[in-house]
Amino acid sequence: MKKVLVLGSGAREVAITRSVSQSSIKNAIFCISKDINPQINDICEDYHVCDISDIGNVVSYSKEKEIDLVIVGPENPLASGVVNALERAGVKCVGPKKEVAMIETSKSFARMIVDLCCPEKNPQRKEFVSIGGVKNFMEILGGEYVIKFDGLMGGKGVRVSGEHLKNINEGLNYANEIVSGGGKFLVEEKLIGEEFSLMSFVDGKTCKHMPVVQDHKRAFDGDTGPNTGGMGTYSFGNHSLPFLTKEDILEAQKTNELVAKQLLKHTGSPYVGVLYGGFMLTKNGVKVIEYNARFGDPEAMNVLSILKSDFLSICISLIEGKLEKEEVLFDELATVCKYVVPVGYPNNPAKGFEVFCDQNDPSLFLASVMLKNQKLLACGSRTAAVIGKNKDIWKAEAFSEEGVSNISGKLFHRKDIGTKDLIDSRVKRMKELLG
Ligand SMILES: Nc1ncnc2c1ncn2[C@@H]1O[C@H](COP(=O)(O)OP(=O)(O)O)[C@@H](O)[C@H]1O
Ligand SMILES: [Mg+2]
Repeated sequence: MKKVLVLGSGAREVAITRSVSQSSIKNAIFCISKDINPQINDICEDYHVCDISDIGNVVSYSKEKEIDLVIVGPENPLASGVVNALERAGVKCVGPKKEVAMIETSKSFARMIVDLCCPEKNPQRKEFVSIGGVKNFMEILGGEYVIKFDGLMGGKGVRVSGEHLKNINEGLNYANEIVSGGGKFLVEEKLIGEEFSLMSFVDGKTCKHMPVVQDHKRAFDGDTGPNTGGMGTYSFGNHSLPFLTKEDILEAQKTNELVAKQLLKHTGSPYVGVLYGGFMLTKNGVKVIEYNARFGDPEAMNVLSILKSDFLSICISLIEGKLEKEEVLFDELATVCKYVVPVGYPNNPAKGFEVFCDQNDPSLFLASVMLKNQKLLACGSRTAAVIGKNKDIWKAEAFSEEGVSNISGKLFHRKDIGTKDLIDSRVKRMKELLG
């Protein structure tokens, strides 16, 4: 009997707990988070309500419940060293220690690690702690640049010229804002191309890769509006994307392998958990946009929904360093995941309204919701994700739309994710770029 504790309560953690519960290995699931997710509550043995970054509380609960294995969902507890504390207390974790999770929590650290093992995957860049030299470097980059706050910002620290920053002055204002808050930042060359995510299971030595997925950060159809936590994702049945070649995928896989190895060499700590590479295919090949130290959300729903192998067995292999012998197979199905979010999200979301849906629907993953007087209320962040899967991606898209139509409340979603029009336009843009 394995006692598994999951930290976090979003849609990603629903996907994780469901996958654990489907294991052939006998298990009991425990969850810690600030709000009770009713879908996780239905599956788990015990739900402990507390801040998941409250390390002392997480450790004492794990000891009290005699937890065998902790799966860390989001990045914040990784950043605050929850894995270091749990392992000191003798509890094994799927998730890297603080010093290794820096691959996500510090963007300059991530660029440095990539420089050490595959420098050609990095864009031109420079680090700054003051405004001196920033303008000059932006000009060297031809006025096409990206400014990245060097720390966790919940997806709100990156601003891109021509999109969020209209001219060099707006860029300098943002840089000044960071400097006056005492922060560090990077100015990077603006890469042009199509983005994709490749997540790998890593046990410190061996990497086993998942299918590649494409996310949609912008709030509205046609990739317009403000950036969000991610409005939806899709993946193809062949585990590739129509604008990528086999070689592109192999390059991304190789990059994750090199980065995992370099992290061990540099920090002395093995990377254990899910390593998320954010890539862009450009006319100069595959480049690294960023690294994350956990499953993506929504990407977790895409890949875990088609994982054929036993998820808990993979997790045990991760903590025991036996991933090499573990089978990690995925069904050859396409997936389309769409988030429904409150009207006004992300800047001014409606909150506290009732959400009507079938909580027992396996294609539905509740996220930022709470139960109050038997009513399901939206809390303001992304409300719920719906997944459609099928051999045919267009059917998978139709299934996800059907799922969305069964949810009601003051909500909206992106109708274009996973549609033929949007995917064709991306393939066309990539063809034009590659010439
Ligand atoms: N060097 C770059 N060139 C072009 N676009 C970039 C670059 N770096 C980041 N971006 C864009 O900004 C988005 C957010 O940046 P990212 O590094 O992924 O940070 P985070 O996810 O922490 O906000 C990316 O998904 C990508 O669209
Ligand atoms: Mg990102």
